[in-house]
Amino acid sequence: MTEYTLITGATSGIGYALAKEFAGRGHHLILASRNLARMEEIKRDFAARRPGQEVVCLQTDLSLHDAPEELFDRCRDLAVTVLVNNAGVVLETGRQIDHGLQDSMGMLRLNCTAVMKLCTLFGKAMCARRSGYILNVASTAAFQPMPFTALYGASKAFVLSLSEAMHLELEDCGVGVTALCPGLTDTGLFKGGKPNVPGWIYKMVSPELTARCAVEAMYRKKLYVVPYFQHWLIVHVARFLPRSAVARVMRHIGKVRHKVRFI
Ligand SMILES: NC(=O)c1ccc[n+]([C@@H]2O[C@H](COP(=O)([O-])OP(=O)(O)OC[C@H]3O[C@@H](n4cnc5c(N)ncnc54)[C@H](OP(=O)(O)O)[C@@H]3O)[C@@H](O)[C@H]2O)c1
Repeated sequence: MTEYTLITGATSGIGYALAKEFAGRGHHLILASRNLARMEEIKRDFAARRPGQEVVCLQTDLSLHDAPEELFDRCRDLAVTVLVNNAGVVLETGRQIDHGLQDSMGMLRLNCTAVMKLCTLFGKAMCARRSGYILNVASTAAFQPMPFTALYGASKAFVLSLSEAMHLELEDCGVGVTALCPGLTDTGLFKGGKPNVPGWIYKMVSPELTARCAVEAMYRKKLYVVPYFQHWLIVHVARFLPRSAVARVMRHIGKVRHKVRFI
């Protein structure tokens, strides 16, 4: 039976880089996101490079209520051996009280609920087969509070915590669960423009580097991975500082971001 790697949100950024990385390793792919035309374009491009490699395009808006269950049903006859929960969005910077509840709920359904549902449904099937890999895209935003992008940070903390707990729950049935925690990565996520910070202070890394590190960590069944050393160092140094101090530093960074509006 043909085995597939399912990637949500593979039309751009980190998801697209992951699709290229898995395709380069010979995987057959299922791409799941809203933009069908872009997915078909990727399919044509991959087919031209690697004849015989299958790419299935499934249009879905994972911020809708039953979309994850429907996606699982559409994949029922396909053996999904790798699940990548990558699709995610961030709201504009601002205080949480200034965001509409509808926007907030839409983000939570995509960033959290869809990840939980797909992990549960595909994780169960993988566990029954006693093999498989789940790669969940969290963020370095998961490690501390993120004033002015509060809900995004909270949503990624959810993904990190869920992934780490499921990693330990599924270890015994041969299923690997890895949380990918990228720092700033050069993608279209930042709708208002990109941050202009010198690289020695904070480097924005390429989605290709992020994807390569992610797939290697996934195959090594690591609990989590922060792809770039500088980002890894910042996360781990912050763990030794008082939580209140880290939160205040993040509030300062959040305020600067809000002023220059690069999210
Ligand atoms: N860029 C960073 O600095 C960074 C850092 C840490 C973590 N991350 C995380 O990395 C992941 C990918 O983000 P990115 O930076 O690569 O951003 P991106 O280029 O904007 O990609 C987002 C992807 O998610 C898909 N998507 C958005 N809304 C969707 C929906 N409702 N249903 C289905 N798919 C949807 C988009 O596809 P369609 O538009 O075709 O639906 C797109 O392929 C996210 O989870 C993000 O939180 C990013």
